[in-house]
Amino acid sequence: MNNPSLDPAWIGKTFDDFLFRPHKGITSTRAAIALRSQLTDALALELPIVSSNMDSVTGGDMAQTMALEGGLGVIHRGQSIERQCETVAGVKRSHSAVIEQPRTLPVGSTIGEARVFARRHKINGILIETAPATAILAGVLTRRDIPWDRSHDNEAVENFMTPMAQLKTAGPDVATDDAAKIMFEGRIERLPLVDNEGRIQGLITRKDVRFLRERPFASKDAKGRLLTGAAVGCAGDFMERGQALLDAGADSLFVDIAHGHSLVMQQGIERLRAEFPQVPLICGNVATGAGARFMCELGADAVKVGVGPGRGCRTRLETAAGVPQLQAIREAWCEVGGEISIMADGGVRYDKDIFLALACGADTVMLGSALSGTDEAPGRVIEDPATHTKKKIYRGMTSPEAVMESLYDSEDSDAVDAALATPPEGQEIQVPYRGSVVDILHRIRGHLRSAVSYAGCESLEKARMAILPDPLEYLIALSEASRRESYER
Ligand code: XMP
Repeated sequence: MNNPSLDPAWIGKTFDDFLFRPHKGITSTRAAIALRSQLTDALALELPIVSSNMDSVTGGDMAQTMALEGGLGVIHRGQSIERQCETVAGVKRSHSAVIEQPRTLPVGSTIGEARVFARRHKINGILIETAPATAILAGVLTRRDIPWDRSHDNEAVENFMTPMAQLKTAGPDVATDDAAKIMFEGRIERLPLVDNEGRIQGLITRKDVRFLRERPFASKDAKGRLLTGAAVGCAGDFMERGQALLDAGADSLFVDIAHGHSLVMQQGIERLRAEFPQVPLICGNVATGAGARFMCELGADAVKVGVGPGRGCRTRLETAAGVPQLQAIREAWCEVGGEISIMADGGVRYDKDIFLALACGADTVMLGSALSGTDEAPGRVIEDPATHTKKKIYRGMTSPEAVMESLYDSEDSDAVDAALATPPEGQEIQVPYRGSVVDILHRIRGHLRSAVSYAGCESLEKARMAILPDPLEYLIALSEASRRESYER
């Protein structure tokens, strides 16, 4: 049954069914329009865009870039727990105000070992401890201290490092601004943090402080590390996976299955909630008001909405299940809007669709194909030898190719049998290669700001407050002719 509070004008409607009526603009510069929105009650994004937990969309590079640009990446679960956790940990380590466990080598290590160590871990400064595992700081060796001339490779690092007596250090609780001042005044690049016993407690680098200042809009946790989400399922090893992902630093778990309004999801959320009461859970996918209410009552922090609109999906073609995406978003808002966040997932082909999703009920929007084909998405660029056009692969997570790859290192033969016995509801396609995702996010940000300005508002938040009670007052349903006039170019 349809949600009884839903106006019949929404039934069967999706993005290309509406235009947005322009209102008197009130901002002098669009660049100042804020786009902040809530991923959950506890987590806000300056750019309300989330990259899909798909193996052709979000790996470590995508997740890092999404967070740097103010959005969020969700690391997919079509891989072993170890690989997924490694990726999460890599994102968390990539930028932070304080490196909590800086890499160390003991006194007595050779210059040759230090050179390999620095290269392998891609670091410019190594903290030297007095002996293995003491964590007592003896000095700092930087890349500049390592002679180019290999004839010194067997000499000990302590002959080349800056010793403790000449080092500037700070206590573990030093404020970032004070650390920046010490580094500036001492003209040093890194500041080891040590406790009263001289034990290493962290490291602050000028590069990281500069990054934090230059990117106030990046999505960061309380320690200044990039935010990242990670996907789990609701069966098999999902509890173990969830625990490992949280240990690796994931800030939120995306409990993601094709049919979220189900008993399987109920059992999954109940177990995750009981075990991790404080962890933000974003759960989906559903496509109805009843599905959204179900998630809300189970204790989800956000509900992911979308059954079958995605470019890699065949669910609607194969099963007839689905709700047109704008109707689904509106149903969810009428049911749980203001109680928990809503993430619209799938079906975005143009930037205007993102604004319509946000204006009709979504707090954030998840994108798959729109972000695929970029440098940051996993997978190689393929060049057509005849035309020299460049492409990348985009595939649904239940496509035969993605399923086969996800099973590659699985030791659970029951799960393998079950997956192979399930007919696919996803497909693989080639998408044009599009360069860096940074350019795409820049374009989306600009178009969203323009849309907010056309709505006569000074921020996305104010636009949503004005529009959400009755978006139909702002929307114009399109005829065939007006659709042609709008979109055919
Ligand atoms: P877009 O349209 O942004 O959609 O490419 C991305 C979303 O599609 C969903 N997804 C799937 N849906 N079968 C489906 O029915 C699949 O194999 C599949 N893989 C991904 C998912 O919600 C994603 O965020």
